[in-house]
Amino acid sequence: MNAEPCTYVIFGATGNLSRIKLMPALYHLDVARQLPEGTRILAIGRRPWDQQKWVEEARDMIQAKGDLDENVLQRFSERLYYHQGDIEQEQCYTDLAGLLNRNKNFPKNIAFYLSISPSDFGPVMEFLSKNSLFDEEYGWRRVIIEKPFGYDLDSAQALQKRISQYLTEQQIYRIDHYLGKGMVQNVLVFRFANVMLEPLWNRNYIDHIQFTHSETIGIESRGEYYDSAGALRDMLQSHLLQLLTLMAMEPPVSMEAESLRDEKVKVLKSIRPIPKEAVHGHAFRAQYGKGTINGEKVKSYLQEEHIPATSVTETYAAMKLYIDNWRWRGVPFYLRTGKRMAKAQSTISICFRHPPLQFFRDTQVQCMNPNWVLLGIQPEECIRIEMTVKEPGLEMNTRVSSLDASFRNSDEKTIDAYEDLLLDVLKGDRSLFLRFDEVEHAWRVVEPILQTWAIERDYIATYPAGSWGPEDSRRLFDKEAQSWRSSLIPEGK
Ligand code: BG6
Repeated sequence: MNAEPCTYVIFGATGNLSRIKLMPALYHLDVARQLPEGTRILAIGRRPWDQQKWVEEARDMIQAKGDLDENVLQRFSERLYYHQGDIEQEQCYTDLAGLLNRNKNFPKNIAFYLSISPSDFGPVMEFLSKNSLFDEEYGWRRVIIEKPFGYDLDSAQALQKRISQYLTEQQIYRIDHYLGKGMVQNVLVFRFANVMLEPLWNRNYIDHIQFTHSETIGIESRGEYYDSAGALRDMLQSHLLQLLTLMAMEPPVSMEAESLRDEKVKVLKSIRPIPKEAVHGHAFRAQYGKGTINGEKVKSYLQEEHIPATSVTETYAAMKLYIDNWRWRGVPFYLRTGKRMAKAQSTISICFRHPPLQFFRDTQVQCMNPNWVLLGIQPEECIRIEMTVKEPGLEMNTRVSSLDASFRNSDEKTIDAYEDLLLDVLKGDRSLFLRFDEVEHAWRVVEPILQTWAIERDYIATYPAGSWGPEDSRRLFDKEAQSWRSSLIPEGK
């Protein structure tokens, strides 16, 4: 698929996401000569800025992320335009339509990036539609919608119903930036370009699978949003369930968008619904108290800005799921995420079963370690397979040795997820974007937990900032021998 020149219209261009991700990503695409000739970036903002001020701001955004190449910056600056307007007023859209029609510099293919509050998605799209900005008579029109897509199942369905009045499914790009991460895409290659593990990739050999996303940062300046969302909505329903679908899905017919998404939806549909009365056995929530991170004292969640003193919003969430299909029946999938934890990392850990017989009974080898396959998603991008080997020497002792198939050599550059995804929009490749039924089924999975937690408002467990979360979350494990795995290196090393 070829990328075609387009006008990238960014709503919320002066906001946080644009500052830390979108503008740097577009600039890096220009550095890599991936932005097609003629591509323009039109920022929509409320602030009374002129062209020059916007170029300066954009320069700061890019510089904050690393080196600037003055030549590329010159080329990039020529692509930048600023349109001042209030997105709640119709005038903003009539002016925008006039500008895009009048100014021949703007390519007729237009991608609208909605980096705005979810409550504005519907109204903004209605205005764009009313002003014929979604008509594809002279070029394609695509809309990129940031998460969260809805607040729960009902609101996601209502939003979908509303936007499908203005757009076809082919025009909608629901973003989950985890799918743009190099290592996440590597999960598909790891599974489907190698035959070694496929025969083992099922209930006969796998004991359980864990997904961990931990952060050391707190909620930063996002108190208002975060307190109404919580960790379950913010990370588990979206990013971690996406990782689970990639790990668990069947090989798709092809890597083409619809085939891939069909398989992911099948996984989500096969997840065993959690009965309301079993929520406590399947989900655990907690909130960070004060503590120490990297030697610095940090506040508790309740002391953060915009957080009500009685808030029971979770900053840590864990859940256990079962996938009731032929391949996975009976294998628990454990997912956990938390802010203000001991370490910032995303990992997938696959624990294999013990060998059926222990042959080494009369030796020092009492209990063998299970084999693990470990996938580091960030910051370390790696694939490791842990095996038990004999220690050199006269006695029969063993140790764990790790086969390392690291994904990136130290001299190979990391590419931010947004670079990949913003380019896919230009190419019209929707395979790494979510289809509505994926979003819908993901909401169905967490719905019973959300509903239970919404009425249990008297108490929430806490954990000290800088820890791995509360010990009590262990209650989710099916067996005594299972426990959270936080490290990518073998125990004791
Ligand atoms: C976002 C969440 O979607 O993902 C944030 O809203 C979270 O709360 C972030 O910090 C994590 O993304 P990454 O790419 O930093 O792992």
